[in-house]
Amino acid sequence: MRLDVFTLVPAAFDWARERRPLAAVLDHELELRVFNYRDTTPLTAGQVDDDPYGGGPGMVLRVDVVAAALEAVYGDGPDHRVVALSPQGRQLTQDVVEELASEERLTLLSARFEGFDERIVTQLASDAISIGPYVLSGGELPAMVLLDAVVRRLPGALGSEESGLFESFSRGLDGGLEYPQYTRPAEFRGWNVPDVLLSGDHRRIEEWRQEQSRLRSVG
Ligand SMILES: C[S@@+](CC[C@H](N)C(=O)[O-])C[C@H]1O[C@@H](n2cnc3c(N)ncnc32)[C@H](O)[C@@H]1O
Repeated sequence: MRLDVFTLVPAAFDWARERRPLAAVLDHELELRVFNYRDTTPLTAGQVDDDPYGGGPGMVLRVDVVAAALEAVYGDGPDHRVVALSPQGRQLTQDVVEELASEERLTLLSARFEGFDERIVTQLASDAISIGPYVLSGGELPAMVLLDAVVRRLPGALGSEESGLFESFSRGLDGGLEYPQYTRPAEFRGWNVPDVLLSGDHRRIEEWRQEQSRLRSVG
């Protein structure tokens, strides 16, 4: 997969690059490129945003700036999916993550301040995605949330100590929540690990886990 991110804060992605799951797949399963709108802006002094027409507070990311950034990287294109990160977009769910993970190429556009000139969303992006019904200060954290969730679906992203097969929202659990997990000690301050998990009976453990997952997922 090749994933490109356009941002005003490229350094925000350095932390994610150095850690799993990203670090495990970088440069083989995933090629990640991060572009700064300021590097290709057609305006002077690195300007990328402007006052909103009609007045009001804040600055709006300009459509000509984002168009120039896309043109610099893709020429006439892009001919693949371009997602604008916006609190007004379609909510990110595990189904949306699976959908995005199946793309061979993906571009993420993030904004800051008052957000995008609407023409960026309607004309330059293919769709808009929100990571939840709340407003953050910029698209970098949403981009990293999406990046992490998508990258976990790529081969080799997860270590042997981790599996995506039976975690919350996975097909292995019919899209439900994961069963409760416990580790040593078996007893702590009178709080006991369920006996079934200590029984060594794998069939009973499996049944208990499926039942717990079902109970947690209803309602
Ligand atoms: C302060 S927000 C702009 C909010 C916009 N004025 C509004 O009211 O819808 C700045 C940028 O952060 C990003 N952002 C903030 N919250 C987000 C969310 N929940 N999901 C995805 N992106 C978000 C988007 O790129 C957005 O354009």
